[in-house]
Amino acid sequence: MEQKGLPSSGSITHNIKREKTKQKETAWEAMEQKGLPSSGSITHNIKREKTKRKEILEKKKAIDELIKAASAENDHLASFPPFRCYDRNGLSVHFKSGRGDKLPSPSKQYIQSLLKLNMEGPFGSEWPTEEKVKCREMVSSEARYIFVHEATNTDANEISTLLPRERNFTGSSEDKGPIVGFVHYRFTLEEEIPVLYVYELQLEPRVQGKGLGKFLMQLIELIARKNCMGAVVLTVQKANMSAMNFYISKLRYNISTISPSKVDPLIGIEKSYEILCKAFNHEAKAILEEEIYVTQDIHC
Ligand SMILES: CC(C)(COP(=O)(O)OP(=O)(O)OC[C@H]1O[C@@H](n2cnc3c(N)ncnc32)[C@H](O)[C@@H]1OP(=O)(O)O)[C@@H](O)C(=O)NCCC(=O)NCCS
Repeated sequence: MEQKGLPSSGSITHNIKREKTKQKETAWEAMEQKGLPSSGSITHNIKREKTKRKEILEKKKAIDELIKAASAENDHLASFPPFRCYDRNGLSVHFKSGRGDKLPSPSKQYIQSLLKLNMEGPFGSEWPTEEKVKCREMVSSEARYIFVHEATNTDANEISTLLPRERNFTGSSEDKGPIVGFVHYRFTLEEEIPVLYVYELQLEPRVQGKGLGKFLMQLIELIARKNCMGAVVLTVQKANMSAMNFYISKLRYNISTISPSKVDPLIGIEKSYEILCKAFNHEAKAILEEEIYVTQDIHC
């Protein structure tokens, strides 16, 4: 029974509800003005947080997929036919792909011998320990290789006597020619950035200084970009001055933010190596080279 001018119990309930809602809204506004989160903005923040987390997980998943896809590729050289051989400065060599878990034992012996020849000096007293580490790394299922084979028609007088035994150990078929150097690289993550990490770049002394190292690093950078990696990263012994010069002065690599000397100068003094890198996009530059700040993601 509704009396004229008096609200019904239904409309009273409705009005109370409306009033309560209004009070709540005013309270939220007041809280927000004071900088306190309202339950509305809390819900909003939770949603935003969830979306952010989802985006991060999706990005991580996409990066893992990139690394998996890059590692699964059988022959990285196949995409770059002009880079399958190098014929300059009296050198005639060609390149073959390889994997750590499929190395024939003559190749393993060759790698060990060349590493010892080139690296025992720069590593000094650390060499025996380092040699064991390198032996394990050499055969990892993640290890990818570019082997440098000399053309078979090379003048016999030109053949090095520095590695006489290993020349017979290469196991290479005649048409491949003996190995004279190699690159060991992997696709991996550094600070959440997908990178191509050069574990080793080793050339026999007699093929050094003829532009081959630079050419191989250009090829490595092409492989990294083609596989959407953000950077090429590598480690160099400080005592290996010629390699330092080669990477920093000639190839324009930078000492990375993840290198001990950049992380903490005191630790840097203790450590015998630097980590160098060349980044290809804003995010990788910001994180690994700290040159600029992230403004956008570059997709390849
Ligand atoms: C370091 C190494 C890979 C360089 O390869 P390389 O074929 O000898 O070098 P390149 O002939 O391609 O040289 C490229 C440029 O670097 C310069 N360069 C090479 N060695 C250099 C040195 N010791 N000091 C200064 N510059 C050097 C060259 O003059 C050339 O410059 P240019 O382009 O202006 O002509 C090779 O010498 C090597 O295998 N060294 C022993 C193993 C080693 O130290 N590996 C690196 C460990 S991370």
